[in-house]
Amino acid sequence: MVSTKSLLLAAFTTIAYAAPTKGPCKSLTPTLPSTGGDDLVAPSPTARLKKIALGHGIQNYTCSAPDATPSATGALAVLYDVTTLYPGLSKTALSSNAFNSLPHLLLWDRPVPLNRPSNSSYSADTTAPFPAHDDLKGLADYPSLKYAGHHFFDSTGTPTFDLDASGMRASVLKTGDVSAPKDADKGVLDTGAVAWLRLTDSKKGESKGVNLVYRVLTAGGNSEGCAVAGTGVQSVPYTAFYWFYEE
Ligand SMILES: *[C@@H]1O[C@H](CO)[C@@H](O)[C@H](O)[C@H]1NC(C)=O
Ligand SMILES: *[C@@H]1O[C@H](CO)[C@@H](O)[C@H](O)[C@H]1NC(C)=O
Repeated sequence: MVSTKSLLLAAFTTIAYAAPTKGPCKSLTPTLPSTGGDDLVAPSPTARLKKIALGHGIQNYTCSAPDATPSATGALAVLYDVTTLYPGLSKTALSSNAFNSLPHLLLWDRPVPLNRPSNSSYSADTTAPFPAHDDLKGLADYPSLKYAGHHFFDSTGTPTFDLDASGMRASVLKTGDVSAPKDADKGVLDTGAVAWLRLTDSKKGESKGVNLVYRVLTAGGNSEGCAVAGTGVQSVPYTAFYWFYEE
């Protein structure tokens, strides 16, 4: 005999199970990539993945002297939405190989999508670095990627993601970093891939819909070192995936 209690329990379990399949993400939960070595602290089980974006831009450093250690001063990047391309997530999803190749392909296939003051080096216009919003089209064998937003450091030096295409925003602080895998793309200046990061809400009350961000599968972006770059600002091209969560 089946008791009333177990019937109720069964009904409840069914409802609890059915709910997640109604969302756009179906029942599959994408898993943050692993470096194969040390990994970042994972999102909590209740964290909801809101978006996966592909970023393309520059990492900035300054050198006080040719024999100094470069200090990281910020970054600028344009973000493209790749959420539905995540393997298994939609009808238009990519194979994991094709998905994971995106940062490498984009870094080498396209110029940095920022307004430049001159042709002399990798840099960005100081007052208006971002060009008009545009999808990323014509990457060989890939569908066009929708413009998602911008990554920059705000006037107080806080890393910020303005996902204006979806009305979300993250103002964050670094709470974890691990080295990129040894076989990561060293970038167009052959300087190596920037670290993978865990970034959590800055508590400045500026985040909207996202409060946990991961930078993973990085390509390029490390400093050339002050002996090569010389004194002053240096900007190094990079690409990366950014995973945006709310928890
Ligand atoms: C910048 O590059 C473009 C195309 O490569 C060229 O037409 C233009 O003259 C260059 N501008 C300067 C200031 O060198
Ligand atoms: C990065 O450097 C460029 C010059 O190459 C500058 O225009 C931009 O404002 C800098 N951005 C940050 C966030 O440091």
